Amino acid sequence: MGGIPKRTQVVIVGAGPSGLLLGALLHRHGIDTVLLEQRSPDYVLGRIRAGVLEQVAVDLLDEAGVSRRLHAEGLPHGGFDLCFDGQRHRIDLHRLTGKRVTVYGQTEVTRDLMAARAEAGLPTVYEAEQVSIHDFDTDRPRVCFSHQGQAHEIACDFIAGCDGFHGVCRASVPTAALHIFEKVYPFGWLGLLADVPPVSHELIYANHERGFALCSMRSATRSRYYVQVGLEQQVENWSDDDFWAELKRRLPPETAAQVTTGPSIEKSIAPLRSFVAEPMRFGRLMLAGDAAHIVPPTGAKGLNLAAGDVGLLSRVLAEFYRGSAAGIDSYSERCLKRVWKAERFSWWFTSLMHRFPDHGAFGQRMQHAELEYIVSSEAAQTAIAENYVGLPLG
Ligand code: FAD
Ligand code: DHB
Repeated sequence: MGGIPKRTQVVIVGAGPSGLLLGALLHRHGIDTVLLEQRSPDYVLGRIRAGVLEQVAVDLLDEAGVSRRLHAEGLPHGGFDLCFDGQRHRIDLHRLTGKRVTVYGQTEVTRDLMAARAEAGLPTVYEAEQVSIHDFDTDRPRVCFSHQGQAHEIACDFIAGCDGFHGVCRASVPTAALHIFEKVYPFGWLGLLADVPPVSHELIYANHERGFALCSMRSATRSRYYVQVGLEQQVENWSDDDFWAELKRRLPPETAAQVTTGPSIEKSIAPLRSFVAEPMRFGRLMLAGDAAHIVPPTGAKGLNLAAGDVGLLSRVLAEFYRGSAAGIDSYSERCLKRVWKAERFSWWFTSLMHRFPDHGAFGQRMQHAELEYIVSSEAAQTAIAENYVGLPLG
């Protein structure tokens, strides 16, 4: 990279999938960006998160010109299994909706976007420290930070807050201007990644009396599994053997017998949360992705929502530079419509599939009755499938 520019059209804070994809889409529209990330590229690539892409995310990666490897290596999935009472029931996404999802890791999406940005020579500052945003309530915002011991300031037209849940952008908005909606769940997900073939060629979401389990994958030779754990649990106290034993207990015996175990490449615990900050725009600051909203991971929506946000944001910014600010004014409202739909589905699917400490016997029977209803009802399965495969950007 050459020197750090003193002025650009859009400063993007955060080089997760939202920030990188926004940068790629804006580049296609001829809009200049500087991308600031507080971590190193290796750190960003080391975070193992999402695995399921909806068509909206695939379409946007196509539009950004960074989908060659996704199409070559991504796994199209036309269904998944819901498992309870020791039985697996297939939800046939493709028959019910005509659509599929694509299994391709967030790490790979990020790697592809990073490579494309480097190849295009677009300015990116990793390990940017003390990032602070200023004057976004005027039409001359500024972003300050330090890098390798030197202070920098970039003047811009817009700031895109793509800096995740713990980022600086949302935190810089006066609290009185924000409306926060939040629900924290009384459990987390312990995830394990291993170079072993997946137990099934499709995902399995399992409701079990010991807690939820999810069998997912990254490829034909790499598996990703999750088990619900209490909030008091520490990842250091889970050996790989403990994890495999607990996973198998939560699967039907025939399925458990087919699990190939092996050493973990990564193991971590993620808390579960539903969160929305409204609105998503304050003057010349737009929030996108996890900076504005969090869903519990059960519905596989977080990355897809992030992609939807930056897809819309790239369009309204392109409209702005063609002379119309109308899109900018509608950005927050249009995003939040999609966001609340995904919040509802993720909350509902989480409530259906997990053990809640305060559920009691009645709550458990209700969960069971609802699962029985779903597997007997085409309409209920269609509703799940439509929500799971997601909406086009519109
Ligand atoms: P992030 O990925 O959090 O990126 C934000 C970036 O900003 C980070 O790189 C961070 O270092 C940087 N940053 C933060 N603060 C600053 C600062 N002050 N200055 C500069 N940079 C900063 N979603 C799905 O769609 N499908 C799934 O299957 C799925 N599974 C998941 C499983 C798990 C276990 C978890 C935890 C999440 C899952 N998600 C899933 C959610 C998905 O991973 C997130 O929604 C997604 O990472 C959001 O991307 P983002 O770019 O908005 O935020
Ligand atoms: C994965 C994560 C999810 O939250 C989900 O619903 C499906 C798959 C995964 O990491 O593979």
